[in-house]
Amino acid sequence: MCGIVGYIGTQQCVPILIDGLRKLEYRGYDSAGLAIHDGKGIELVRAVGKLRALEEATRERNTLEGTLGIGHTRWATHGGVSEENAHPHVAGDIALIHNGIIENHSALRKRLEGDGAAIASDTDTEIVAHLVDAHVRAGKDLVEGVRDALQEVEGAYAIAVVSRKDPSRLVVAKNASPLVLGVGDGENFAGSDIPALLEHTRRMVIMEDGQMAVLRRDGIELFTLSGDPVEVVERRVDWSPVMAEKAGYKHFMLKEIFEQPRAIEDTLRGRLERELGDINSAEIGLTPEVARSIKRVCLIACGTSHHAAMTGHYYFEQLAGIPTVVELASEFRARDPLIGDGDMVVAISQSGETLDTLMGAKIAKDKGAHILAIANVTDSAIPRMADGQLYTRAGPEIGVASTKCFTAQLLALLMLAIYVGRQNKHLSDEQTRDLVEELARLPLHMRDVLTGTRQLVSNIARRYKEAQDVLFLGRGLNFPIALEGALKLKEISYVHAEGYAAGEMKHGPIALIDASVPVVVLLPKDSYRDKSLGNLQEAKARGGRMIVVASEGDEDAHATADEVVEVPVVNELLAPFLTVLPLQLYAYYVADMKGTDVDQPRNLAKTVTVE
Ligand code: M6R
Repeated sequence: MCGIVGYIGTQQCVPILIDGLRKLEYRGYDSAGLAIHDGKGIELVRAVGKLRALEEATRERNTLEGTLGIGHTRWATHGGVSEENAHPHVAGDIALIHNGIIENHSALRKRLEGDGAAIASDTDTEIVAHLVDAHVRAGKDLVEGVRDALQEVEGAYAIAVVSRKDPSRLVVAKNASPLVLGVGDGENFAGSDIPALLEHTRRMVIMEDGQMAVLRRDGIELFTLSGDPVEVVERRVDWSPVMAEKAGYKHFMLKEIFEQPRAIEDTLRGRLERELGDINSAEIGLTPEVARSIKRVCLIACGTSHHAAMTGHYYFEQLAGIPTVVELASEFRARDPLIGDGDMVVAISQSGETLDTLMGAKIAKDKGAHILAIANVTDSAIPRMADGQLYTRAGPEIGVASTKCFTAQLLALLMLAIYVGRQNKHLSDEQTRDLVEELARLPLHMRDVLTGTRQLVSNIARRYKEAQDVLFLGRGLNFPIALEGALKLKEISYVHAEGYAAGEMKHGPIALIDASVPVVVLLPKDSYRDKSLGNLQEAKARGGRMIVVASEGDEDAHATADEVVEVPVVNELLAPFLTVLPLQLYAYYVADMKGTDVDQPRNLAKTVTVE
């Protein structure tokens, strides 16, 4: 995900901008750039690769001096990794950086090109620079030009803009992408997050969606996008450098758990056609022709990504009506799989580098299957070898235990299944419209669950943290979530945990149940709920201590369970996105209370490139 910084003041801005970008490196990037106003004009420096390359390029330009500038780290979305696609983008007198996605960029590009604009890159960002330039050329002041351009833009953005003709102002704006202002003495700052600015000031202004700001050396003005003034409210941030890196959270894992609504919004962005009630084919990674030709789907992955694949199994069979198999990538490649023409192999991997998944995809490709990669890391090995790519946009995941990438993978699989179901006419207009609407509301529900259950789950973790074994039960779409809950607990708290299909309990695991074994049951209101309630009662009757994740207002759950965590009622296909959240929090709090190394648990690696 891109990072942005801006500075206006009296100091030389190059080191300030590069230092800010270094603080934003955690967001992931593949190129970087600066635009510096030297009092006469704007100097542009861009480089592919790490910040070292940008620093090298600025050193070569030893005359690069100025007290107004913008800096950017780019995580490629529209257009490959190249210097031309790196930000800042320049149009006429305007230089602009952007974090987010402009959804209507194709239509705007066509119009601008028709008007004679020479667009040099493949990015959605350059389009915004040209829009601002067009308005300024038409006689608008810089601030009005930015405002008018943003009226034409749909999508998410945090932008920073400078004009060659105006060395006294830096203009920024935000909608759905983060942007923070830093207040100094005779200088002001902008950045994607607080840590990027913390070395220079602790006085911060957190911008809201739909706001613009004009930064001068001696002050900041804040407006709505329609031009109404907004009071500038400063807040003092007293984070230590370590806290700053984690945005105030104790661990990356907790930060990433709470980033999930945003990760879902970003992964949805540009892929839902809400007005048409459909999925937009542009960034699904599969052409309509290939989608219609698929006879069988094979989902391969490891660990948490394998649990996402197991949920994807339901999505493909129900929504696309296509026979689907799910395989652990290590087992898939351990045999000589019967796979080939007519099969689509979806290789799912957060890192995009997991060796077993990569080798499994290669075997399938050699045998003639179509390979689609679902990955979080752009241009990693699996998407590079695949025929198509569907990127999750969860942002870099630092904690070894995968959380936000898991829900982003569920979403990628769900959108893919809807898309294929539309292409092969398995899914009706009405079903699709309903799903699209529910998907659009999903981030709100996830936010509610995270904020509403955090304290309760922490209290439950405190009561049960000494348990040596924990059982997780789920049925249907929530069976993989039970497996995921158990995996999370195992890997970070080192507590033995087993995930089971609820219907399997009486075939063995019920023998384990006594008062020392907490049993976590997933019981959202879905087609399997009554059967799972029966399993819950069976376990309770054998003395089990029952922790239940149920839909709001489920009286039976309250009557039977020792602890109930409620989640909103949603379409059952979407329930896993909500039921997994308390399980992630439970694992986190147990581990934290035990004092384990939550972000880097023993013996585990984030990227597994061995067999
Ligand atoms: O990068 P991948 O998604 O391919 O990684 C697969 C597994 O190694 C990974 O999900 C692992 O199980 C995590 N530690 C789970 O939290």
